Amino acid sequence: MVTLLSRSPDETEHIGFLVGRMLTAGMIVKMYGDLGAGKTTLVKGIARALSIPVEYVVSPSYTIITEYDSTPRLLHIDLYRIEGRSDLESTGIWDALSNDAIAVIEWPEHAGNELAEGGVVIRIEHRSENERLITIEGIDEEHWHNL
Ligand SMILES: Nc1ncnc2c1ncn2[C@@H]1O[C@H](COP(=O)(O)OP(=O)(O)OP(=O)(O)O)[C@@H](O)[C@H]1O
Ligand SMILES: [Mg+2]
Repeated sequence: MVTLLSRSPDETEHIGFLVGRMLTAGMIVKMYGDLGAGKTTLVKGIARALSIPVEYVVSPSYTIITEYDSTPRLLHIDLYRIEGRSDLESTGIWDALSNDAIAVIEWPEHAGNELAEGGVVIRIEHRSENERLITIEGIDEEHWHNL
């Protein structure tokens, strides 16, 4: 587990960029944190690592799933509006998840127990107006040392 203190949105985006460079096809990233914690800000950095223009990246709260045609493809999923299993089934998430794509999921707790355990887990906690404590699990320590 790695714990980092971010002092600005730019720092959070940069942490996302570093994470993005370590992700490979088929990985699922679950991002926990309150409203406005910085989940989407971090996803922008992941997207940048995949050469996706960051201005395209917004919370897909209404569309639920946004797919970017990067290599590998990126699925940005936001389950904020999802309540319960039948709601989840209707999102198409099971068809979308793929061994060829990286999936980043905001509000994974709204899927109940339906998502597989493990994968990469990122938690973002408010510390103050501009400070966030970010913990990242599920990425091999040696990857961090090789940065
Ligand atoms: N250190 C920081 N890291 C990230 N965001 C920060 C930081 N400090 C302040 N902010 C602000 O917090 C907000 C984070 O918004 P963002 O959309 O990334 O959150 P979110 O977790 O995706 O929220 P939601 O659950 O509504 O989708 C932005 O307004 C950003 O400017
Ligand atoms: Mg968001």
